[in-house]
Amino acid sequence: MRKSGEPALDIACEVNGRPVEARVPVRRSLVDWLRHDLGLTGSHVGCEHGVCGACHVVVDDKVVRGCLMLAVQADGRSVRTIEQADASPVVRALQDAFYERAALQCGYCTPGMILQAAELLAASPAPDRAEIREALSGNYCRCTGYHAIVDAVETAARRLRGG
Ligand code: FES
Ligand code: FES
Repeated sequence: MRKSGEPALDIACEVNGRPVEARVPVRRSLVDWLRHDLGLTGSHVGCEHGVCGACHVVVDDKVVRGCLMLAVQADGRSVRTIEQADASPVVRALQDAFYERAALQCGYCTPGMILQAAELLAASPAPDRAEIREALSGNYCRCTGYHAIVDAVETAARRLRGG
């Protein structure tokens, strides 16, 4: 929702494979725009200061913090959220493994964890536990599920390698 008189810009981008055109308040964060204007509530807002990773989304194939990027900066770019209809095999494998290994409790951190882990597995298909922890070090889980989360990422990686 835009307050009258608030500075805004027109943007055109792709969100989860679909073209989107919108007038966006210049101070609106990307994650707020996705959640409140587009109804994509899978990305969560935790700290709003770039610390917790709950707001992770993928912009032009790179994981970014949606609270630190303005929606107007998405102009001309491709944005993917955890709701992407054509989730990659990596994302699907991670979602299955998180479920099976009980790697979520409240689930608030889970979308950000999965998008970050997917980026790791794309670059490093056989990460060791230290590498997984390093990759997820910018994602906070308030339920302290870290061991199970590392287990789940290991499990998904093994399956994706055919093991
Ligand atoms: S809400 Fe963006 S990093 Fe915490
Ligand atoms: S499962 Fe609750 S914050 Fe991680």
